[in-house]
Amino acid sequence: MVSPQTPETPSQLSSVPRIPVPRTCPFAPPAEYGRLRDTAPVTRAQLPGGQEVWAVSTFTDVRSLLVRPDVSSDPRRPGFPEPFPDAPTEEPGATEGPADPEEEAPLPQLFEMDPPQHTRYRRMLIPELTVKRVNELRPGIQQLVDRLIDDMLATGPETDLVPAFALPIPSMVICQLLGVAYDSHEFFQSRTEIVLSKTVTAEQRETAYLELYAFLDEVVSATESDPTDDILGRLVVKYRRTDELSHEMLVNTAVLLLLAGHETSANTIALGVLTFLEHPGQLRILLTEPAAAVSAADEMVRFHSLGDVDISRVATADFTLGGQTIHAGEGILPILSAANRDPQAFERPDEFDIRRPDSRHHVGFGYGPHQCLGQNLARAELEIAYRTLFTRIPSLRLAVPVDELDFKTDSQIFGLRSLPVTW
Ligand code: HEM
Repeated sequence: MVSPQTPETPSQLSSVPRIPVPRTCPFAPPAEYGRLRDTAPVTRAQLPGGQEVWAVSTFTDVRSLLVRPDVSSDPRRPGFPEPFPDAPTEEPGATEGPADPEEEAPLPQLFEMDPPQHTRYRRMLIPELTVKRVNELRPGIQQLVDRLIDDMLATGPETDLVPAFALPIPSMVICQLLGVAYDSHEFFQSRTEIVLSKTVTAEQRETAYLELYAFLDEVVSATESDPTDDILGRLVVKYRRTDELSHEMLVNTAVLLLLAGHETSANTIALGVLTFLEHPGQLRILLTEPAAAVSAADEMVRFHSLGDVDISRVATADFTLGGQTIHAGEGILPILSAANRDPQAFERPDEFDIRRPDSRHHVGFGYGPHQCLGQNLARAELEIAYRTLFTRIPSLRLAVPVDELDFKTDSQIFGLRSLPVTW
């Protein structure tokens, strides 16, 4: 059941608040995060496993935190937050973590690295996702979106917009960019869902991850023998052949791009369509004001901030933030969704307003050295998806009431599992 706002719960501010807090409203982050931001912007908070960390929730504090050189993104450091502990294993006595004790520790992903390692790998990827490169991709994205809408119109007048539109757009684009066959989409989408689930065991998550890894291992091996004109092919030519990038690290990067490249954008497209249907005034603006259609993508990312606490840090030195002393070794969770609704940074922060001036002024794509590498691509996908869908099917509407929709409350990234629409 969907309520307009998270109901008041007994104040969590009297003792150490507990985070993460589940969403109960599809159009707002948990009200508790707002209360933290307004009353205790840098505060101790307890995670589900009992670990205490710092929760940081104002826009200014989140941004200052994310550019500090004395905070680390490396989860192997003691004290690093674990906001989503794995569910207990089903078989009593079953071991958690790698099944084989001899197995080597997995390589870190880009978002888990610190400089200088992070800087080195990030530089390899930057040219692949610049505004210029993404502008070259726009006609192809437009064609793909049009084709999906043609199919919907040919089989309609109703469909589930998640499998018919929201998921295929970013999935097909990232497949093309990586040289991955799109007919594997059911495989990688289902494994991604397990990797991001909040309710699976360590074993289930690891199995899903290893299956994705094995799949991309084959793709990378094929690209190494015959480099194709795509991101992986260019990385092979530029960095594999000079050994600046190992085979394993290239596979790792491919896994990250495939995962990050489709899941968040797909959820933002689906929730975005729902948001426009629930805000007809904004929908009119989308269709009549070209500048607002461009800024709609950023406003959607700000408004929803789908991964509430999906980024974590740990202090590597003592420092003061928001009047509190954070000590080396203490975990920190910047709450992006709270920062993106901070009234000190945004006028009428709880309103969805695609005409918002300075629409990129948000932290929905993170901030600082790890700021989202795919943000230009995500912007293009969202802008083209919303504008084209509502222009071509102006009578689009929900086929079921909002409170019957299936929201992904069990995933680290909020979204919709299905979105039945008609026209
Ligand atoms: C609406 C869509 C998206 C949202 C909201 C989003 C959000 C984010 C956020 C918040 C971070 C920062 C992580 C941190 O600081 O620890 C991030 C990093 C990243 N994102 Fe995205 N993302 C989106 C789409 C994409 C796409 C389409 C791609 C790839 C094509 C992508 C690739 C990455 C990568 C590689 C990083 C790691 C960057 C680094 O650590 O240097 N993202 N994203």
